[in-house]
Amino acid sequence: MSIATADPFAWIDAAAEQRRSAGLVRTLRPRPAVGDVLDLASNDYLGLTHDPRVTRAAADAALRWGGGATGSRLVTGTTELHAELEQELADFCGVEAALVFSSGYTANLAALTALTGPGALIVSDALNHASLIDGCRLSRARVARAAHRDPDAFRAELATRSEERAIAVSDSVFSVDGDAAPLAALAAACRDHGAALVVDDAHGLGVLGPGGAGATAAAGLAGAPDVVTTVTLSKSLASQGGAVLGPRRVIEHLVQAARTFIFDTGLAPAAAGAALGALRALRAEPSRAERAREVAHALSTGLLERGLAASVPDAAVVGVRAPSPEAALAWATELRARGLGVGCFRPPSVPDRFSRLRLTARADLTDEQIAWAVDLIAETARR
Ligand SMILES: Cc1ncc(COP(=O)(O)O)c(C=O)c1O
Repeated sequence: MSIATADPFAWIDAAAEQRRSAGLVRTLRPRPAVGDVLDLASNDYLGLTHDPRVTRAAADAALRWGGGATGSRLVTGTTELHAELEQELADFCGVEAALVFSSGYTANLAALTALTGPGALIVSDALNHASLIDGCRLSRARVARAAHRDPDAFRAELATRSEERAIAVSDSVFSVDGDAAPLAALAAACRDHGAALVVDDAHGLGVLGPGGAGATAAAGLAGAPDVVTTVTLSKSLASQGGAVLGPRRVIEHLVQAARTFIFDTGLAPAAAGAALGALRALRAEPSRAERAREVAHALSTGLLERGLAASVPDAAVVGVRAPSPEAALAWATELRARGLGVGCFRPPSVPDRFSRLRLTARADLTDEQIAWAVDLIAETARR
């Protein structure tokens, strides 16, 4: 067959076959409105997704402002709701200003592309989230990978700098094992080399720091003039969307230069309303942050005591290693059949290639639910 008449998508079948034989096929499952299993798979760390303060705020926002933002905020305008959310987020995290985006992913792309560019250096933790990796790729900066959570490795890469501008970037809490970055040491390394620090606090906001103000606040870096934080609204804040937080001049620059702000429809009103509702609920009940951490510790301790390879969490995420991708999938499937929902992370979602169950703690879980989940995970592991 000549190239001109060949099936242009034949390669898809070959790639699917490869995925099948490696045990790496992903499937979409239906999800009921009300959970039919005990959920340790979602990122609803504070247990606020179905809280009436959140759902009512989402509905009220949609009723007042409409179903969508109607366009880029630079074209159709910024609502009072967006401004209110940005102000409250900035106040809560202790920074000068915030800008919301349609997702945490686009917030990360914005921060990395608008603050660097050709002629800049980005030093990036080797296990950073995919959205940060994509931001590095899109930035056209020189990108150096530093060993995971290793401030000396960051220093060594920053010392190679010949570029005018430099930033270091790290997740605050890594999404697979829930381990935390040494943010204070990274900030010190950056300062010694005249670089800025960008922190992706997707898994820290609402869980770490005073009242859940995030990992940057926990590290004493809130409001620092050389630190920029990105967050998602889709985890602790029980909504959808993202934000960049930091010095006012950085935020004003993003409005002018971040392509994922300029060329993307603004955050939907319902999502902005839900995030604001969740933020206010957290402020009214700051102990939710501590409870999420407590639940994660209880899960991890229980599993370690039963001889499982669980991570020791710094926030609300616990990874449990499985022997293979197939074993991880079979384990997660059996747990689900018996009433426990867990994440199943396999390559390429695990940068070190070890497949895992991923458990996420929720502030609203009871001690009895935790004990039951630990027993079930241990029992099914033995098989
Ligand atoms: C560390 C990290 N950063 C960014 C994101 C992207 O956020 P969003 O889902 O809001 O796009 C995620 C996951 O969702 C994440 O785990």
